[in-house]
Amino acid sequence: MSLKDVIDKGDKVLLYCNGKKFLVSVEPGRVLHTHIGMINLDEIIGKRYGDLITTHIGERVYLLRPNLADYVLNVKRRTQIVYPKDIGIILLLGRVGPGSIVVEGGSGSGALTGVLAYMVRPNGKVFSYEVREEFLKLAKRNVEKLGVSDYVIFKHKDITKGIDERNIDTIILDIAAPWLVVEHAAKALKGGGYFISLSPTVDQVEKTVGELRKYNFIDISVLETFVRYWKIKEGESRPLTFMVGHTEFIVFARKVFEIEG
Ligand SMILES: C[S@@+](CC[C@H](N)C(=O)[O-])C[C@H]1O[C@@H](n2cnc3c(N)ncnc32)[C@H](O)[C@@H]1O
Repeated sequence: MSLKDVIDKGDKVLLYCNGKKFLVSVEPGRVLHTHIGMINLDEIIGKRYGDLITTHIGERVYLLRPNLADYVLNVKRRTQIVYPKDIGIILLLGRVGPGSIVVEGGSGSGALTGVLAYMVRPNGKVFSYEVREEFLKLAKRNVEKLGVSDYVIFKHKDITKGIDERNIDTIILDIAAPWLVVEHAAKALKGGGYFISLSPTVDQVEKTVGELRKYNFIDISVLETFVRYWKIKEGESRPLTFMVGHTEFIVFARKVFEIEG
């Protein structure tokens, strides 16, 4: 994501019109057809983020800088992705930040990988394991689009067979059988390091927590996140009817060197 104030060719811009958003890459000569008319992307080059343009039928469109949730929700996806609501708490409770060394399994569409890479800059690294070559390629392309490829090492490997890296700060698993990685995670994490896994069903969570209890993990917690948007209008304010319901249960645990008793 570029931090320039003036929009140039190749930049990503979020077009905002009456609550609707379109994420576009500014390619010279490209004309975007939308339900509110055509937008000539040549017109955007040289404008500032925050400027207003109009479509060919006079509808007003604001030019905004995309954020990381826009990246996640707009990645070309061929797998389930981690939703922004879940990524937020993973970063916070998993202590992912500048300099973090993170192991991820699997890369999938690279939605989470891109955000992790963005967060660990300028001196951290993400090692992302993926078994399926087609998803590895897709994840690489999506991470490239975000401009953070330098911070990711993609590995075409089955993470249940072992983790090559040591002294890892945080391991994040979005795979069907995270419990098969617990033993490897116990060896790869540094003292106090974080194990995080995402699973859609509770039987997966029970198996994972069962394994965490066998190895040197403490502070085990399991949570779900819910985000409910509201309509605000005097006298009519209320939650919106539809929301993202269930995505994943998230397991958090921390590795220690020995457990007493
Ligand atoms: C739900 S997707 C991950 C989506 C990703 N977190 C995202 O936000 O785009 C799960 C991915 O894990 C991969 N996978 C499953 N088992 C794996 C394993 N043992 N080692 C590495 N990758 C694995 C699958 O091929 C799939 O691409």
